[in-house]
Amino acid sequence: MKDPNDPPIRIAAVGDVHMDQDVLGRFRPALDQLPEHADVLLLAGDLTRHGTEAEARCVAQEFGQLGVPVIAVLGNHDYHCDQVDKVVDVLTNEGGITVLEGDSTVVETPACRLGVAGAKGFGGGFAGRCASEFGEPEMKAFVRTTSTVAERLGQVLRDLDCDVRVALTHYAPVPDTLAGEPPEIYPFLGSYLLGQAIDSAPTALAVHGHAHAGSERGATPGGVRVRNVAHPVIKQAYSVFRLG
Ligand SMILES: [Fe+2]
Ligand SMILES: [Fe+2]
Repeated sequence: MKDPNDPPIRIAAVGDVHMDQDVLGRFRPALDQLPEHADVLLLAGDLTRHGTEAEARCVAQEFGQLGVPVIAVLGNHDYHCDQVDKVVDVLTNEGGITVLEGDSTVVETPACRLGVAGAKGFGGGFAGRCASEFGEPEMKAFVRTTSTVAERLGQVLRDLDCDVRVALTHYAPVPDTLAGEPPEIYPFLGSYLLGQAIDSAPTALAVHGHAHAGSERGATPGGVRVRNVAHPVIKQAYSVFRLG
């Protein structure tokens, strides 16, 4: 357990940076100062515009070699060109970025052992207004995709051996941080199943992106702090959260 007298851990996070050649250099001046402000950087998906290898190279250039560990999940845009393996390979090997999908990593920081469980997540909607596993095979497959991802995320969070747990997703785990988006598209922006997964472990913070027109702050039904760090929402290179 983290000692109450330890300094707080500082977690920087941003999502939806949608890198390509035109965006290259936009974040780097602020990122060069990052080690003074944060112990780790989380990237909440939609790192590229269309998920090409060339765009992944822009991400690696912009977010690589920052002097602090960088941990990412992919977003739906990063899947668009069906080059996920190449994108992950470039981010990992050229950017030194840890890419999570249904797994976790533990970072030793001066403050504590930070555990990050990550998954892209998927849609489905929120309690009372959500899709259910009923009817056509396509609808069952849609909902099952989310429930499988959520179950895995919950398991990985519960299994983490660390002082402070953080959940990193692209899709939203709660509707609070979607406020500002049209209600009609909430089922495509996230799922309450992700929120249930986060609540199944003593999670300190949940970070997501995807909802460009959403809101910054929310909480799961279990009281876990949720933050939408999509770049169009936070309007800065990254937000910093202090835990402990
Ligand atoms: Fe996005
Ligand atoms: Fe997205």
